[in-house]
Amino acid sequence: GTPAAKSKKLVTLNIDGYDVTVPEGTSIMRAAAELGISVPKLCATDSMDAFGSCRLCLVEIEGRNGTPASCTTPVMPGIKVHTQSPNVQQIRRGVMELYASDHPVPGLTDAANGDSQLQTMAARVGLREIRYQPVADHVRQYGADGTANPDWRPVDESNPYFTFDSSKCIVCSLCVRACEDVQGTFALTIEGRGFDSRVSAGVSEDNFLSSDCVSCGACVQVCPTGSLQEKSIAEMGLPDRSVITTCAYCGVGCSFKAE
Ligand code: FES
Repeated sequence: GTPAAKSKKLVTLNIDGYDVTVPEGTSIMRAAAELGISVPKLCATDSMDAFGSCRLCLVEIEGRNGTPASCTTPVMPGIKVHTQSPNVQQIRRGVMELYASDHPVPGLTDAANGDSQLQTMAARVGLREIRYQPVADHVRQYGADGTANPDWRPVDESNPYFTFDSSKCIVCSLCVRACEDVQGTFALTIEGRGFDSRVSAGVSEDNFLSSDCVSCGACVQVCPTGSLQEKSIAEMGLPDRSVITTCAYCGVGCSFKAE
C-alpha cells in the first residue's frame, strides 16, 4: 500500500459500504487495506511516499467528479468511496490494456503465466484481450519505415547481478525512487517525456556498470514489470521458496531475498 500516517487525529469514511477510522493523512488505498480491500496497484509501496504514476488504483468518490488515484488521495471525513464500481473497473482494464499492448511478454493476459506484478494485476483487473497491435521488436528498433530509432536500447546486461530491459518498462519511477530513498544513491534518472520517457543510468555510456550503481538491488526488488530482473532468476527461474532477510554488509538495512 502506502506508508502509515502518524497523525493522532482520526478520520472516519466509508469504503465499499464499510466504515473505517484511520489517522488523518492516511491514503484511501491504505484505509481500504485496513478493511481487507486490496486496490489494484503497480507503483505504490509501504516504504515510499506514493507517486501516483501508474493510474491503476483509481477509485470513485460519491458526489465528486473524476477518478482520483487512491494511493495519493488522503482520506476525508464522511466521504463514500467505491473501489470496484463498474466505471473504475472499466478504466483500470483500459489502463492495463495500454500497458499490455506495449509490453513484449507473451501471455500477459494469461493469469497462469504471472511472473511479474504487471501480469498479476492484468489478471486481477480482468484483462482478457488486447485490442491494440503490439509494437514488434524490429519496429521498436528501426521504426515502421526501417529508420533506426534513436531511443531504442538493447537489454543492459552490464551489471553482474541484474539486467534491465527498457522495452518492458512502464516508467513508473519506483526504481529511481528506491535508488534515492532506500540506498541514497542517484544512479538512475528518467529521461524524456511522455511516450518517449525512459529510465536511464544517466551517464553517456547509458549502462548500470558505468553509473553510480552499487548493486544493492533495491531497484530490482520494487520493479513491478520484470524490466529489472536478477540474472539468477533469468537463468534459473523463480525460486520455489524464499526468506526475507537483512544484509549486514553496509548497515543501510536493505532487505533482500535469499533463496
Ligand atoms: Fe496509485 Fe500507481 S498505485 S497510481
